[in-house]
Amino acid sequence: MLKILNVVGARPNFMKIAPIAAVIAGRSDRLSQILVHTGQHYDEAMSDSFFRDLALSPPDINLGVGSGSHSEQTARVMLAIEPVLEKVRPDWVVVVGDVNSTVAAALVAAKLGIRVAHVEAGLRSFDWSMPEEINRLVTDRLSDLLLTPGAGADENLRAEGIDPSRIVRVGNVMIDTLFAQLDSASFAVLEQLHLAPKSFVTVTLHRPSNVDHGETLASILAALGEIAADLPVVFPAHPRTRARLREFGLVLPPGVTLLEPLGYLEFLGLWSNSRIVLTDSGGLQEETTALGIPCLTLRENTERPVTISEGTNQLVGQDRHRIVAAAKSVLSGEAKSARVPEMWDGRAAVRIVDALETNARIY
Ligand code: UD1
Repeated sequence: MLKILNVVGARPNFMKIAPIAAVIAGRSDRLSQILVHTGQHYDEAMSDSFFRDLALSPPDINLGVGSGSHSEQTARVMLAIEPVLEKVRPDWVVVVGDVNSTVAAALVAAKLGIRVAHVEAGLRSFDWSMPEEINRLVTDRLSDLLLTPGAGADENLRAEGIDPSRIVRVGNVMIDTLFAQLDSASFAVLEQLHLAPKSFVTVTLHRPSNVDHGETLASILAALGEIAADLPVVFPAHPRTRARLREFGLVLPPGVTLLEPLGYLEFLGLWSNSRIVLTDSGGLQEETTALGIPCLTLRENTERPVTISEGTNQLVGQDRHRIVAAAKSVLSGEAKSARVPEMWDGRAAVRIVDALETNARIY
């Protein structure tokens, strides 16, 4: 039996682990699995609802680390996961994405001599001010098996001197979940707000660079207000963003509706019916490309450039006028033509588990 220990911590991890856990479960004659939740995200709306929506089995172990500074959070995951890894001694620790839980688990496993597989390896924004960029670089350097979403990620890893035999291109596992759940999307929010498909804009914001400075956040809100003069804007807000709005005393412009964070299926029903998505999320840049929805990313760089070269994504930064001009241009019909990138085909999890099995005895 090959023993696989999957690690999740924050909201964007759940949709990446769900299809992998399902494929492993289908091979239970030869694979066993344990799910460890670090507890980095803990609210019902940020965590539990995703387990329900994605039919993900509850975690076998929850480390309950909660919020804190980057060092506190990373250190707490490390302290809590070390005895678990020592006891379980899995053949693989599988980490996904680029959150603090990802790098913390990878570091502990590497020090214990346990093999680490990183799903979504090789993404680079080349922006060291992003905490996630540090997490991505360190996790990749520590990993034995680098499971990449596409050719650009392979190139980044090779340029950093990673042994090419450790790099396996598997495609985009988050898109497995998207395609699997599309027919189950909930339209509750559209009904509740009386929104017709393609007649509104969805916004998400949570990056510290956008929400932690009062002036920047105020300028983005002003842009949303201008866009809302054309189409209603729906804004499900991350707890960090909600807290900052309160702290800075910012009031939402007319036409912008603030919502609690949504579960996977409610959010899927919302964004997939939007005329435009405005976001600073990494995952949503890819999901919008997969379904052909125009996406304006409120950042100056992206670790997912394929969403620009092939997909519907455009970088529009934080400047109010640039954001509004880009939105107006999409509304006037100037959307980019786009195609779904290679290996975004709903089969990434199968390739990931194949790679875990094939490489289990190599590294
Ligand atoms: C984290 C990830 C980020 C990812 C995002 C998705 C890191 C460095 N950042 O950022 O890459 O895009 O998750 O959501 O790992 N909070 C709650 N309830 C929760 C979780 C958080 O209220 O369930 C609040 C707390 O005030 C907390 C703040 O949100 O301090 C930030 O949470 P944290 O996990 O530190 O970072 P995120 O901004 O969520």
